[in-house]
Amino acid sequence: MAKPPSQSDVEQLIRASESIPPFPDVIWKVIPLIRRAAPVHEIEAVIQYDQAITAKLLALSQSSYYAGRYSIGTVKEAVLRLGEQQLLKVILAASSSRYFKSGAAGYDLMEGELWEHAIATALMTEIVAAGLGWNNSVAAYTAGLLHDVGKTVLNYYVETYFDSIFRLAREQNVSFLDAERQVLGLDHQQLGMRIARRWRFPEEVVMAIGHHHRPTQAPRHRHLVHLIYVANRMVSALGVGCGVDGFMQPNQDEAFVELGITALMAQKYLADLAVALREVKQFLSN
Ligand SMILES: [Fe+2]
Ligand SMILES: [Fe+2]
Repeated sequence: MAKPPSQSDVEQLIRASESIPPFPDVIWKVIPLIRRAAPVHEIEAVIQYDQAITAKLLALSQSSYYAGRYSIGTVKEAVLRLGEQQLLKVILAASSSRYFKSGAAGYDLMEGELWEHAIATALMTEIVAAGLGWNNSVAAYTAGLLHDVGKTVLNYYVETYFDSIFRLAREQNVSFLDAERQVLGLDHQQLGMRIARRWRFPEEVVMAIGHHHRPTQAPRHRHLVHLIYVANRMVSALGVGCGVDGFMQPNQDEAFVELGITALMAQKYLADLAVALREVKQFLSN
């Protein structure tokens, strides 16, 4: 039986989550410019200030998923053609890759798999929202993209204590998430919630990240939390970067019932996601 985590173990994890670099502030600069309908060249200048983000933003904007029938070769064209919501989503995705690109061996994920899982979950929020006739929100996309950000910090600890976590999950029949928390003191939802709060994301995004495996426990923003839960669950079912914990979640499919998603609808969403992932493939390998 593994020893329970001490206060200092938990504090060490919290410090590790605080050492993750700040979220690039391009997004916080672009939002007010869009709100006041600033001229395109001002938005373009803010984005282009960060060259790494600019390169990724162009790669994603040029994918057939976003560009569609347009040809987008410059940041200016991306600003003009994508529309406000899509532009914000592309900036968020371009800004997030730096956190997810390396492998997550603790979760049995190869390099790039956690990133593919993040993008796939973000895209799935759009597919499900469209299917349900919901407003296709930037908040949902953000939460989908960042829902597993806690794993980027917890990965090292999960790898170190993998045997204890795995044994606990198997012998006591608890989920990987619960075993993670019992052995390490915090799970990746809780750490992700802390990171999202420190990055100043809105409360609904923080809530969805913090309850994406346990949507019924969210005190607020249940709608969005359920959306992220079902998106993550379907992406994991497809085997996109689910790693070791994807197969071990308890079956909480009341979330699907609550949103009115039938097995047939889920099948269609999965097929749509496979197409969307093909369309952004180039960006993912970038
Ligand atoms: Fe997760
Ligand atoms: Fe996930």
